[in-house]
Amino acid sequence: MTLALVPGSFDPVTNGHLDIIQRAVELFDEVRVVVARNSSKTPLFTVEERLEMLREVCAPLARVSVDSFEGLLVNYALECGATVIVKGLRFVSDFEYELQMALMNRRLNSAIETVFLPTSAPYSDLSSSIVKEIARLGGSVEGLVPEIVQQRLREKYTIQST
Ligand code: PNS
Repeated sequence: MTLALVPGSFDPVTNGHLDIIQRAVELFDEVRVVVARNSSKTPLFTVEERLEMLREVCAPLARVSVDSFEGLLVNYALECGATVIVKGLRFVSDFEYELQMALMNRRLNSAIETVFLPTSAPYSDLSSSIVKEIARLGGSVEGLVPEIVQQRLREKYTIQST
């Protein structure tokens, strides 16, 4: 049984993330989507809010679970018996950073393999940051994020602007 982790900030989850998660399920027995608790980025959504959205959108997907982790990803992988880390790649600029992280994770634990999935074309220009920017400025994020995320973004920015 191969358990694969799909780690990230997911602030918030986008349709691009969902595409990677769905494709990871085709490749591995079990997939666990994991939110990093100690990211250096300042998030819009709390970890609990991000987990809630992820749980809702992943609920229809068989063999997919959702969790959060603190500290090093490889330590979490070791604790839960995961042997694969799945990352989506959009641009060459993603690759440089992701390769560095994959190499470091391998140095930390050589039993864990990183697998890169190229993003599907419709999502190649999509990121959580871009989605937040559009939503913050009142634009439509329809088609970019699941319905629950659209709703949460509206609530967040309505509260912030009042
Ligand atoms: O969605 P992101 O922000 O690109 O995700 C990055 C993430 C959370 C996967 C990465 O920063 C991570 O794995 N953080 C946990 C700490 C860790 O293990 N760092 C890697 C050591 S090289």
